[in-house]
Amino acid sequence: MSSFALLALLGVASAAKVCTNVTVPVYINARQAIFDVPTFETNLDAVKFSLDFTNIGMNYTDVVTKGFENFQGLYNISAKYCKPQGDNKANPTVQVLTHGIGFDKSYWDLSYNNYNYSYIDVAVAAGYHTVSIDRFGIGNSSHADPLKVQAPSEVSALHEITSMLRNGTFPSVSHKFGKVVHVGHSFGSLQSYLLTALYPGSSDGVVLTGFSMNGTWLAQTLADWNLHLARLNQPLRFGDQSVSRSKTNTAWLGQSLISILQSALSAIGINLSTSDLWQEIATTELGDIINGWNATVAPVAQNLPTGYLTWSDLTSNIFAFLYPGYFDVGAALFAESSKEPVTLGEIFTLGNGAPATSPHTGPALVLTGNEDTIYCGGRCESTGNPNLASIPAGVAKAFPNASKFEAYIHPNTGHGINFHYNATAAYKVIQDFLSSNGLQSS
Ligand SMILES: *[C@@H]1O[C@H](CO)[C@@H](O)[C@H](O)[C@H]1NC(C)=O
Ligand SMILES: *[C@@H]1O[C@H](CO)[C@@H](O)[C@H](O)[C@H]1NC(C)=O
Ligand SMILES: *[C@@H]1O[C@H](CO)[C@@H](O)[C@H](O)[C@H]1NC(C)=O
Ligand SMILES: *[C@@H]1O[C@H](CO)[C@@H](O)[C@H](O)[C@H]1NC(C)=O
Ligand SMILES: *[C@@H]1O[C@H](CO)[C@@H](O)[C@H](O)[C@H]1NC(C)=O
Ligand SMILES: *[C@@H]1O[C@H](CO)[C@@H](O)[C@H](O)[C@H]1NC(C)=O
Ligand SMILES: *[C@@H]1O[C@H](CO)[C@@H](O)[C@H](O)[C@H]1NC(C)=O
Ligand SMILES: *[C@@H]1O[C@H](CO)[C@@H](O)[C@H](O)[C@H]1NC(C)=O
Ligand SMILES: *[C@@H]1O[C@H](CO)[C@@H](O)[C@H](O)[C@H]1NC(C)=O
Ligand SMILES: *[C@@H]1O[C@H](CO)[C@@H](O)[C@H](O)[C@H]1NC(C)=O
Ligand SMILES: *[C@@H]1O[C@H](CO)[C@@H](O)[C@H](O)[C@H]1NC(C)=O
Repeated sequence: MSSFALLALLGVASAAKVCTNVTVPVYINARQAIFDVPTFETNLDAVKFSLDFTNIGMNYTDVVTKGFENFQGLYNISAKYCKPQGDNKANPTVQVLTHGIGFDKSYWDLSYNNYNYSYIDVAVAAGYHTVSIDRFGIGNSSHADPLKVQAPSEVSALHEITSMLRNGTFPSVSHKFGKVVHVGHSFGSLQSYLLTALYPGSSDGVVLTGFSMNGTWLAQTLADWNLHLARLNQPLRFGDQSVSRSKTNTAWLGQSLISILQSALSAIGINLSTSDLWQEIATTELGDIINGWNATVAPVAQNLPTGYLTWSDLTSNIFAFLYPGYFDVGAALFAESSKEPVTLGEIFTLGNGAPATSPHTGPALVLTGNEDTIYCGGRCESTGNPNLASIPAGVAKAFPNASKFEAYIHPNTGHGINFHYNATAAYKVIQDFLSSNGLQSS
């Protein structure tokens, strides 16, 4: 490679972004189900829920549906708006980024390894503006009754954000965007799809990452997650435990736990090595108790209701989201320590109620990691059908009127695309798809 080409690449990688954090009040108005589920008290209630939800002898969502209502109200959506430094294009395109389950808006701008995995850096370097949101109920957006935080209310919030970007009322941004593109991951992809189906014409182009319309592996995913109450799993972030700042880091707590356990165990004749105990802590729920404890960035405990759930530990996370050999274990630990919960209402609506087709007339790209366990059972290319190139290629049926449809299978990658070594190559595929379909900033 010539030194000029190398410099050009470095230039792209370091093109500066300018970002603003905003809290956007939105009026949510969505028709959605009324679910009747008793309030959870313990982790055993969460296990019972997973058993009912995955039981082939009944449709548990149907069992608990007691009717429908119009869910309405004013809620806050926490968002981050970014654009290229010194941008002076007359018609910039904005990408609205919607994260999946277990993440928040930081999925698109991971600070890990000095932002080396940042989607926003790549999109901004390609000339786009971005708005990444914490979905309704998640992160710094309003938390609400976990049975009311469902796909339809979240999509209503996404639609409000989109309208504000188009009509120039999005806080801190006076521009009226003529082109608004929606990029989702996983449940965020489903919501971006639902946006095009429920609010026709609201999107100029959709990119659905970590997605297919084959729900075969939903039960397997729930089983892997081994859902527990979020507030018990990470009490410092999701419970009501405040953090003492006199001891300043997780490494200290980890070491202390190891020595306490070691001496207690050895008193009864059990001799476990420091490395065995470290595995016990890092790969089980014990690790989650101490995760997130960092006095520099001490989290504000969210004190979430018990219907906010999360998978149990690092190993459940890896099973669902990562492809061994192709990710940095440090990035996985980072993902586990910064994970976000899932609500009961979300679990009931992630596989149900989506229209089979969308009237969307713009371009649509589905980009899924070939080893995605949730949407491809671990191998997107295994369709058993010579007429279907990949499982995500089946999404074409949902977009009969799209100006262009493409299903791209990104190699050596699990469900959590952005946490894999080769993530930026996937980001590049997305920017190229958008620009080759006339959606670049101009
Ligand atoms: C926006 O919020 C993020 C996360 O809390 C923080 O790291 C960042 O410094 C904030 N940026 C600005 C410009 O305030
Ligand atoms: C299960 O019930 C829900 C709610 O009534 C419904 O939307 C869904 O289609 C049902 N699923 C199946 C597989 O019948
Ligand atoms: C939204 O955030 C503002 C502060 O930015 C706060 O005053 C208001 O109470 C919040 N509204 C809701 C519904 O949480
Ligand atoms: C970021 O990735 C590049 C190559 O992909 C690597 O050369 C560089 O060292 C990484 N930087 C950090 C901070 O990890
Ligand atoms: C939420 O706000 C807190 C406090 O400002 C900040 O530390 C955290 O990074 C924010 N999280 C997200 C997902 O914006
Ligand atoms: C812009 O869109 C928002 C969200 O739908 C709406 O509340 C607001 O009234 C609109 N403003 C104008 C000036 O059209
Ligand atoms: C605590 O967080 C700060 C800011 O992100 C980071 O620089 C530091 O390394 C963290 N400390 C530990 C012990 O994790
Ligand atoms: C525990 O195992 C270590 C390493 O195998 C050994 O050095 C030590 O003597 C053992 N301690 C006891 C109490 O058995
Ligand atoms: C696609 O366009 C045709 C012709 O306008 C229309 O009849 C059909 O309903 C559209 N399909 C969807 C899913 O909107
Ligand atoms: C899902 O994919 C599997 C594996 O390719 C296939 O056997 C099954 O028929 C697909 N199901 C649906 C509903 O498309
Ligand atoms: C990285 O991703 C790109 C884009 O999908 C792909 O062409 C390339 O083969 C991938 N590299 C590896 C080592 O998987």
